[in-house]
Amino acid sequence: MENDDIEHAARLILASQYVVGLTGAGVSVESSIRPFRGPDGLWTEYGEPPMDGYQHFLADPKTSWEQRIKREGYARELYETLMKAKPNPAHYALAGLEEMGILRSLITQNVDNLHRAAGNRKIAEIHGNFSKLRCIQCNSRYEPEEISLEILPPRCPRCNGIVKSDTVMFGEPIPVDVLEICQDEASKCDCMLLVGTSAFVYPAAGFPLQVKGKEGILIEVNLYETEITSSCNISFRGKAGEVLPRLVEGIKVKLQESGSSP
Ligand code: OAD
Repeated sequence: MENDDIEHAARLILASQYVVGLTGAGVSVESSIRPFRGPDGLWTEYGEPPMDGYQHFLADPKTSWEQRIKREGYARELYETLMKAKPNPAHYALAGLEEMGILRSLITQNVDNLHRAAGNRKIAEIHGNFSKLRCIQCNSRYEPEEISLEILPPRCPRCNGIVKSDTVMFGEPIPVDVLEICQDEASKCDCMLLVGTSAFVYPAAGFPLQVKGKEGILIEVNLYETEITSSCNISFRGKAGEVLPRLVEGIKVKLQESGSSP
């Protein structure tokens, strides 16, 4: 990682009007949460879950809930890891950028809640949040303790729809409320920070292309090249927890040089 690149990225970010972050599993790897793809990926070890997970849920929500309560295989591993995970310097750097008024919002594909734990407030969780439940009919979100599991599947206290985990399953449409927020943020965005995502899964992978399509700036932070690298203005090869704090420092230096306090 060259200082010149940090300086260049800081300049591009400060010249932008509406900076949005798009994060993926890589931002949480330094919090000991495994990514999905690549050598250490969950899917690499356990295989990709069936693409029709949501259809299975709809066909038999009672059995799906019983399986969820038992938690076996990667579901157990993931849940136990998520329960004890803490934000890392990459999360805190992104929270710092929001605090400075530079990052307008975050679109995250992660369900781990770590951006909120780090202090970000404007977050669109496009794949949901593992710690919440959601009604598939009216999209109301609930804390687990708000919903009784005495009768499965549990029902929504507001509309009597079926309640499932807020985490979006394969084959499940992205909830329209969060999708609209993401689309709105992407349409306003003129500079997107792509952190720790393989930029492989749609619709999230479409947002940077949308920004690029209107001559916006793309800045990537990833250990490896990705699908989107060739479209990026700058692509940092490194750990998010090391690159992002340096980028925040670079931005602070530029702000001080220009006489604006961070
Ligand atoms: P992936 O596992 O596909 O990609 C993680 C990316 O992070 C890879 O490109 C890695 O190279 C990179 N990476 C790993 N460690 C890193 C580090 N310390 N710093 C920076 N980059 C690092 O995860 P996502 O892109 O989030 O969906 O995958 C998108 C969706 O696919 C997930 O939300 C999930 C999955 O199927 C659902 O579960 C619905």
